[in-house]
Amino acid sequence: MHSAQSLFQATDFNLAPLTPVVDRGFADDVLHGLALPQKQLHAKYFYDQQGSDYFDQICQLPEYYPYQTELDLLPQVATDLAGTFTADCTIVEFGAGSLVKIKPLLSAISSIRQFIPIDISGIHLEMASQQLQSDFPDLAVLPVVGDFCFPVELPVIGNQQKVGFFPGSTIGNFCPAQAASFLKNARFTLGPDSCLLIGVDTKKSPLYLHNAYNDAQGITAKFNRNILSRINRELGANFTPEKFEHYAFYNAGQGRVEMHLVSTSEQVVDVLGSSVAFAAGESIHTENSYKYTPDEFCQLAASAGWQVERTWLAKQDLFATYLLRNRG
Ligand SMILES: C[S@@+](CC[C@H](N)C(=O)[O-])C[C@H]1O[C@@H](n2cnc3c(N)ncnc32)[C@H](O)[C@@H]1O
Repeated sequence: MHSAQSLFQATDFNLAPLTPVVDRGFADDVLHGLALPQKQLHAKYFYDQQGSDYFDQICQLPEYYPYQTELDLLPQVATDLAGTFTADCTIVEFGAGSLVKIKPLLSAISSIRQFIPIDISGIHLEMASQQLQSDFPDLAVLPVVGDFCFPVELPVIGNQQKVGFFPGSTIGNFCPAQAASFLKNARFTLGPDSCLLIGVDTKKSPLYLHNAYNDAQGITAKFNRNILSRINRELGANFTPEKFEHYAFYNAGQGRVEMHLVSTSEQVVDVLGSSVAFAAGESIHTENSYKYTPDEFCQLAASAGWQVERTWLAKQDLFATYLLRNRG
């Protein structure tokens, strides 16, 4: 497995066992985010092994429509694309998770020779990649552990056409300016003549959105609080996650669902030797999920040098999948 980052350090004298060390980038981001007037944590830090497991549970919830809606759309998308991608090609998936959504593409498009899933959640990616490799033995599965907020170095794969795949509306976790930067970087990573197949959640009734991010079983709340447990585990902080309430709502002015953790009382938390004070009711902003109308998304893609070549809309326009072409 290729790795863009390592949480472990070996000494000159003894390569094993490896000594866990604090991930400086994670520590700096947390300290910076908790010092802002509106405290915030980057959503990418949800995804340690526990967070990836919670996300898989969220995907099975009846309220969380984006997952199943997109999955139901993909067999038709794949069938339509089988005639477009006839030459040997490599799929590069950003934020690949459990590698479920690639399967309809692999089943319908016989020209896919290599698959490069990129994800920040390393152990989860490794396990999912091993399973996919045994399910598709003729496919070269080349996982890369990395952070797609930065340029990601791909394994050397020859001259095949590269097709990016970015399902799950993960693009919605970026604000529009960051989303445009991501899309520009993806053009650079994928190279000339590339395409990008991307799943994007649409604007819809606030109540429908509210239910999707406030499930009855409280799994989304566990997922949200896990970011504090992770900071405790990896950075030695002393958050009491139960003293923070999950709060998610649709901010219509911004066109996004916001997720927060709200302090239930006045409290002080120790994070790497810094005392972080919370007033009762004060929140940490943990995630945005921007929603785009097709027109808004076409404009965003164009601003980053991509042309929308084809659009598939799910039932009741609940979700959209776009095929983008690199305008070079
Ligand atoms: C919303 S989930 C989507 C998972 C899957 N693609 C799907 O559609 O079901 C986001 C995925 O992106 C990964 N991820 C989030 N931020 C990332 C980053 N900055 N770099 C790489 N992977 C990231 C997470 O680990 C997770 O697997």
